[in-house]
Amino acid sequence: MVKILPSVLSLDYSDTKSGLDLIKQYCEIIHFDVMDGHFVSNLSFGPDILKAFKKYTNLIMDVHIMVDNPELISKIMIEAGADIITFHYEVFDCDDDLIVLADKIRANNVKVGLSIKPKTRVAEIKHLLDYFDLILVMSVEPGLGGQGFIMESLEKIQELKQLKINNHHHYIIEVDGGINDQTVNAVKKAGAEWLVSGSYLFKGDFKTKLDSLL
Ligand code: DX5
Ligand code: ZN
Repeated sequence: MVKILPSVLSLDYSDTKSGLDLIKQYCEIIHFDVMDGHFVSNLSFGPDILKAFKKYTNLIMDVHIMVDNPELISKIMIEAGADIITFHYEVFDCDDDLIVLADKIRANNVKVGLSIKPKTRVAEIKHLLDYFDLILVMSVEPGLGGQGFIMESLEKIQELKQLKINNHHHYIIEVDGGINDQTVNAVKKAGAEWLVSGSYLFKGDFKTKLDSLL
């Protein structure tokens, strides 16, 4: 059974508590996007918001860091209560640094994910898959909610599923961006396990929208 992870980027912050109450009632995991205005041009949340969300919901915090300095930001977010940290492959010049960071994160009892942008091929990260608990396929350009799903992402999901089976990897396949009632079936069929949804899920009745994705 797939899991739907609400992306709090699309929460109505004039009524934060009501949004979090709905998430608490129906979901297990919150997808929390951290943007630095550098790796992506947008800015989002810092550690105090994560702490507050964790305190109010006690849910699993899946923290997706779209930042140029994942070493520093992962440390800050772990201190704030992150349960999963996913950083971007594209930020690193050398694989060794990326593996060192994955180990550091895991040493804190925090799960670690690797994310790839739409133009990054699965072949580029094939040799790294065993180091991660989760692989996040970005199905839109990172930085903004409400964009259209990039169809080529489906092949990447299929590829990751096949590699997982063939090589007995343990990673969860997560997909982020443009998930709605039109795209969800293809995403599930391709093999995605955790589906992030922001703008679609938070527009209209939350439970109805959630059910339409399950
Ligand atoms: C985009 C973020 C997503 C975003 C998804 O950079 O990583 O988590 O909130 O939003 P939708 O579901 O609106 O595409
Ligand atoms: Zn995200």
